Amino acid sequence: MDLVIEGRAFVKGRLSNWCIGIEDGRIVEVAKNLRGEEHVDYGQMLVLPAAIDPHVHLRDPGLTAKEDFSTGTLAAAFGGVGCVLDMPNTIPPATSLADLREKKRTIAGKAWTDYGLFAGCIPGGKLEEMAPHAVGFKMFMGSSTGKLLVAEERDRARIGQAVKATGKVLSVHAEEEALIGKEREQDIRDHLRNRPFQAEVAAIDRLSALGCRVNVCHLSSAAGLNAASKYNFTKEVTAHHLFLDRDNERGAFAKVNPPLRTRDDRFALMKAFLDGRIDMLASDHAPHTIEDKSQEFDIAPSGMPGVETQVPLMLALVKKGALPLDVLVRAMAERPAEVFSLKKGRIEEGRDADLMVVDTRALGGIKVNNLHSKCGWTLYEGFDAIFPYATYVRGHKVVEDGAIAGERGGRDVVVGP
Ligand code: DOR
Ligand code: ZN
Ligand code: ZN
Repeated sequence: MDLVIEGRAFVKGRLSNWCIGIEDGRIVEVAKNLRGEEHVDYGQMLVLPAAIDPHVHLRDPGLTAKEDFSTGTLAAAFGGVGCVLDMPNTIPPATSLADLREKKRTIAGKAWTDYGLFAGCIPGGKLEEMAPHAVGFKMFMGSSTGKLLVAEERDRARIGQAVKATGKVLSVHAEEEALIGKEREQDIRDHLRNRPFQAEVAAIDRLSALGCRVNVCHLSSAAGLNAASKYNFTKEVTAHHLFLDRDNERGAFAKVNPPLRTRDDRFALMKAFLDGRIDMLASDHAPHTIEDKSQEFDIAPSGMPGVETQVPLMLALVKKGALPLDVLVRAMAERPAEVFSLKKGRIEEGRDADLMVVDTRALGGIKVNNLHSKCGWTLYEGFDAIFPYATYVRGHKVVEDGAIAGERGGRDVVVGP
């Protein structure tokens, strides 16, 4: 065995002392005692499956002033994330086989974590061609950053059929374009008026007709949560919709789609998350430069960074006793692995050795200067958090004790023919 990691590991749904045996990046055995060429004993620290973030925008290619695959995945690794699934609204967008291949060439060798790429759905797109190269498909039902809007019911129906034939999941930005207002916006409340919760509910109700596997991205309202729960969809929630609402006075820095809503919406989502009723925690990491965000509210782009902070925020809730650890592990690792068919997400034989090591005593405040996204800002300054002590990707230590600890060796989880 190349490596044995020992500690209070989360195995079969609970914490106990275990040795995790690793060979060629895979977990080959989990036992009370194991010997390996290298043995690392983390004592009382927790060893958890690394998180899988099923929704990031790493901006590569084309928007690399905001982020690139190197900085984005490094931020992920510092936040306990071992694998990111990247969205297609880049420049050019990843909406054809050629674009997807070109994107893969551009980002090759840059990643610190593993990654998968979503293929973007556009009217007339050849989805079957892209399927073998993509971890899933993405459809925007309402306009947001980029030009991937699918507003016509006929086009959505065709996309649903095509995705169904591939057997892959369709992750959806569910805001109904027809219900999004275009009034000039001066602040977050205007933004919310233009993008009411009814737009989220209407979009979700329409999805039931598609017939393919549907994942509803970034639920933002109590009504949207209820709507999505009626169907056999999987559901994502972001940290920003759990920790922030329309009372956050940060101007365009808090502008995001779907918008931050009321305190009641936030509490309903948080309750559902704590109860384990939301499948996946997803950052929707959408970095924009400080310059982009400092423009007038109306023209500033929507989106905020979050890939590095979402797990640390949640670990602080675990420490305070508000969030059961098994609920967090399920939402940050087990469910994303199941939904997107990844051999990751659990500490068990046959899975990739993607792990995070957590010192639960290390509760501290988030400081922007300690973060690694290229965008250089966060809405969580001062929030309680526990950053993982170390993150491993396929048995390779990537970060430890707040510093880079290894080589970048991130791989694409979908290598097409
Ligand atoms: O606020 C958002 N930002 N929502 C999206 O759907 C896209 C994202 C981005 O890429 O900036
Ligand atoms: Zn979205
Ligand atoms: Zn997104």
